[in-house]
Amino acid sequence: MEKKRVLFVCLGNICRSPSAEAVFNGYLKNNDIDGFEVDSAGISDWHRGEPADQRMQIHAKKRGYELTSVSRPVVPEDFDKFDYIIAMDRENLRDLKQLAPRAGHLKKIYLMTDFSKNYDYNGVPDPYYGGDEGFELVLDLLEDAVDGLYKFMKNK
Ligand code: 4NP
Repeated sequence: MEKKRVLFVCLGNICRSPSAEAVFNGYLKNNDIDGFEVDSAGISDWHRGEPADQRMQIHAKKRGYELTSVSRPVVPEDFDKFDYIIAMDRENLRDLKQLAPRAGHLKKIYLMTDFSKNYDYNGVPDPYYGGDEGFELVLDLLEDAVDGLYKFMKNK
């Protein structure tokens, strides 16, 4: 099978998309699936070079996820390199569509919560300015969506 490349994208690349990367990698590992290359990036470069937010790391760790990514902004080359570019919320989705260098890239861009199974959220809410429950919700939504995302990509 040809390798599939997936990029998760949020605003700062320190909370939601690093978590999405870790949760999806965890799903692949638990299910003995290989053939994927997974990365994450931010719409903004505000946190370039920083590790994931300490609060997000703590919540993720409680569920067994190690957040290892270092923040970087989305770059034009990402739209060629990756097969699937998964936005965390509607703003990210809109911004990604604007950043896409060519019209042909648009079909690679999806919204994470479109793959939800048990939740009905229109995007993964930004937890940055909120409390603990926001970070837990991020993980709940991501854990719920990865199976649908994987099955979608597998069947493409
Ligand atoms: P993320 O969360 O997009 O999930 O990484 C945020 C991180 C930082 C900021 C906003 C959202 N910020 O305003 O710096």
